[in-house]
Amino acid sequence: MLKPTLLPNTFILEGRMARIYTRSLTPGVAFFEQESAWKEGGVEYRELSPRHSKLAAALAKGCQRFGLQEGSHVLYLGASHGYTPSFVSDMVGAGGLVHCVEFSPVVMRDLVFVCEARANMSPILASAAQPREYAWRCAQVDVVFQDIAQRDQLGIFLRNVAMFLKSGGTGMLALKARSIDTSRRPDEIFRDIKRQLGERKDVTLIDYRELAPFEKDHAFFVVKKR
Ligand SMILES: C[S@@+](CC[C@H](N)C(=O)[O-])C[C@H]1O[C@@H](n2cnc3c(N)ncnc32)[C@H](O)[C@@H]1O
Repeated sequence: MLKPTLLPNTFILEGRMARIYTRSLTPGVAFFEQESAWKEGGVEYRELSPRHSKLAAALAKGCQRFGLQEGSHVLYLGASHGYTPSFVSDMVGAGGLVHCVEFSPVVMRDLVFVCEARANMSPILASAAQPREYAWRCAQVDVVFQDIAQRDQLGIFLRNVAMFLKSGGTGMLALKARSIDTSRRPDEIFRDIKRQLGERKDVTLIDYRELAPFEKDHAFFVVKKR
């Protein structure tokens, strides 16, 4: 029996190993090898793996604040082939919108097909480090989500939050410590990022999780824009 979670249209199937599912916006259509479906009461659900998605890993690690709601407009930075973005598309539903920013033309080829099948996803080929490049495509959003392996992950996230996130909106940063500095211990880097976010006047840190064992050396920071 599926039980609702704090994320919209997202459920847990309890068992020896709890599994996460979203209500599918595109029943009968699967895009990813690792995707499996579940039917209950005539509704199709798609399994979202915490081993392939930092958003799912944060949910599995007990994160309490996501800010995502049905109808939310989301700026998703580092959309890759569209795996997690397609689940965010299920979460926000047909009335929501997911702007998917990705700078690799190679993965964009797959992302475009996912976006074509989902009217609430829009692909943007651009670097998240240059938010002005896509300002004409993206109005103010309710949620900024970032998952990119860059040295300046925090700076890129904060620039996008400043430009696109509504006041009161939520920013989620999936941070990869090894991309920032391989010579420092990940927990030291996480503490440093926490401190930097804690000192800011434009955002408040509202949740924090380390993502191991699902993602080694990754942490998940959730902020609310003031
Ligand atoms: C870890 S993958 C994202 C996986 C995706 N979030 C998911 O869960 O399905 C990181 C992606 O960020 C992209 N990326 C890295 N730096 C970027 C940048 N500055 N702007 C846009 N995309 C970037 C990479 O090309 C890669 O596809």
